[in-house]
Amino acid sequence: MSDNQNTPAPVKKTFLSRHAAIERSATLLMVLSLVVVTVGGIVEIAPLFYLENTIEKVEGMRPYTPLELKGREIYVREGCYVCHSQMIRPMRDEVDRYGHYSLAAESMYDHPHQWGSKRTGPDLARVGGRYSDGWQVDHLMDPQSVVPESIMPKYAFLSRTPIEATYIQDLVKTHRAVGVPYSDDMVENAAADFNAQADPDSDYDGLLERYPGAQVRNFDSQPGITEMDAMVAYLQMLGTLVDFSTFTPDASR
Ligand code: HEC
Repeated sequence: MSDNQNTPAPVKKTFLSRHAAIERSATLLMVLSLVVVTVGGIVEIAPLFYLENTIEKVEGMRPYTPLELKGREIYVREGCYVCHSQMIRPMRDEVDRYGHYSLAAESMYDHPHQWGSKRTGPDLARVGGRYSDGWQVDHLMDPQSVVPESIMPKYAFLSRTPIEATYIQDLVKTHRAVGVPYSDDMVENAAADFNAQADPDSDYDGLLERYPGAQVRNFDSQPGITEMDAMVAYLQMLGTLVDFSTFTPDASR
């Protein structure tokens, strides 16, 4: 047995041995890791902000009508996204169940987006038109009345809560401020469009001109506009704006 077995070999000052200094100091390791992750993140994400074509333009997408926008606000307020996603992933089982996978353009006017990360209930990205207004109202009033095994809570108060167009213009302006292309015409007529969409007897030509394909109905079949009208108007629009019978993905990208 020779003596030098107990004395460690002299460490050569190589690149790796200097790296040992980093590995031995938790703080230094953390700071440098953060630097590396930050650089990686910037390289990946920053170009997306400058690319014109990050989101493929798709025919049919339009900003939400004031009534739909209000419904969407209630959807966010009530935390529907806690149990429902709004993003169909491009996988066979998802597409078979929910329809065409979601396009980036379909949530381009969503601030914040409602993709969600939890599906206690089904995905809602294409729920528009799947059920009648009556079913939607019954379901929101008392989900177990139409789906006995449902664990969804009741939202009957929506139909007992009247809403007026008082602040709707502010809501539209707020969304314009964060990038939704609402025109001056849309902002000016926000209150009129809000009332017109829930009243099939009104003059809604202007609404349809500003928001092609908007559905005009008394959504909850009750007199007056309630939060239920706004919610059902929103749900019935989801996933219906893009016509997938004619849509073809742009292969040039
Ligand atoms: C605690 C979780 C939970 C919350 C919160 C919730 N839901 Fe649901 N939802 C479910 C479940 C579970 C189902 C499936 C059973 C059923 O149809 O009731 C469902 C079904 C639905 C359906 C039918 C979807 C389909 O394709 O059959 C709609 C529409 C819906 N929910 C809308 C809403 C809205 C709007 C809100 C917010 C006001 C909401 N949900 C809040 C759990 C939830």
